[in-house]
Amino acid sequence: MSETSPKLRAELAGIPTYKPGKPAAAGGPVAYKLSSNENPYPPLPGVMETVTAAACSFNRYPDMACTGLMDELAERFGVPVSHLATGTGSVGVAQQLIQATAGPGDEVVYAWRSFEAYPIITQISGARSVQVPLTPGDVHDLDAMADALTDRTRLIFVCNPNNPTGTVVRRAELERFLDRVPGDVLVVLDEAYREFIRDPEVPDGVELYRERPNVCVLRTFSKAYGLAGLRVGFAIAHEPVAAALRKTAVPFGVSQIAQEAAIASLRAEDELLGRVGSLVCERTRVVDALRGQGWTVPDTQANFVWLRLGERTVAFAEACERAGVVVRPFPGEGVRVTVGESEANDIFLRVSEEFRKEA
Ligand SMILES: Cc1ncc(COP(=O)(O)O)c(C=O)c1O
Repeated sequence: MSETSPKLRAELAGIPTYKPGKPAAAGGPVAYKLSSNENPYPPLPGVMETVTAAACSFNRYPDMACTGLMDELAERFGVPVSHLATGTGSVGVAQQLIQATAGPGDEVVYAWRSFEAYPIITQISGARSVQVPLTPGDVHDLDAMADALTDRTRLIFVCNPNNPTGTVVRRAELERFLDRVPGDVLVVLDEAYREFIRDPEVPDGVELYRERPNVCVLRTFSKAYGLAGLRVGFAIAHEPVAAALRKTAVPFGVSQIAQEAAIASLRAEDELLGRVGSLVCERTRVVDALRGQGWTVPDTQANFVWLRLGERTVAFAEACERAGVVVRPFPGEGVRVTVGESEANDIFLRVSEEFRKEA
């Protein structure tokens, strides 16, 4: 065998690997997965039927233009089809956005800690990550982010609500920030958890996009709509950004099953958003209980809570796992816990109470 190996791009060295939320242990007494911000509800029967029917023709390629889904989204959001682009989950669309805007020598600005895919997809493109620390209250520091812009900045992510802290930026501060961003820099409002927001001061990114050609809104069917395993997300953006997204898309990336499921989910929105409402009630219950136990919990508008445990992070995650719930530790920083089934939330709250007493 030859001693040499194929030359790979230097930018790939040292890319952090995406750490998926750990699955619940198979065969354990009770095991709940609260590590990936998934929707705990099973698929709706109607969506299941649609998926089963669509599965009968997977010998064929899907509709590459996602025509039916695009029409449905255009109507739902009141935007032209030419302002829409779909992808393999919103993380796929986020990667297309970077490919379309940033290469070697360019900069991508985002808060940190935030969604762990941002540094990975930035580095893959050869661009440089500019990570702006969250405030001590775990919120985006938009003034510092605006100060961090240079003539190399090509794209900014604003994750609202932020993963993993659940914190939000509100209308006035976001508009002030957008006013400071030059028109030739793309601002991506990552709204993967939009449907879980109850704070009326948090703007709907789609409103902001209408007035601002450099704003792009990212949404997903993975969370509120419960289609995480089918991989479909989308962006709403003006031309030429939406057109660039179509150019950078993997051909046939969104399966026909995913397209049909997404359409069926939009049509069953009332029922799905009812489930979101129940999860929001659970979120309030969990946050109140944690605060009652003495924890400092940032206000969360997403389907997860953040505990800044520092050095005790891993120990806490292990205690959760022993008790039957898998959470997402960020060693040395904190633990992100998805709001799931009530039984799972109860187990988590029992562990947090014990842990608090021992500390
Ligand atoms: C902030 C944020 N954006 C995007 C995504 C990607 O979701 P998907 O690719 O499933 O649409 C996630 C998933 O966890 C997320 O937390």
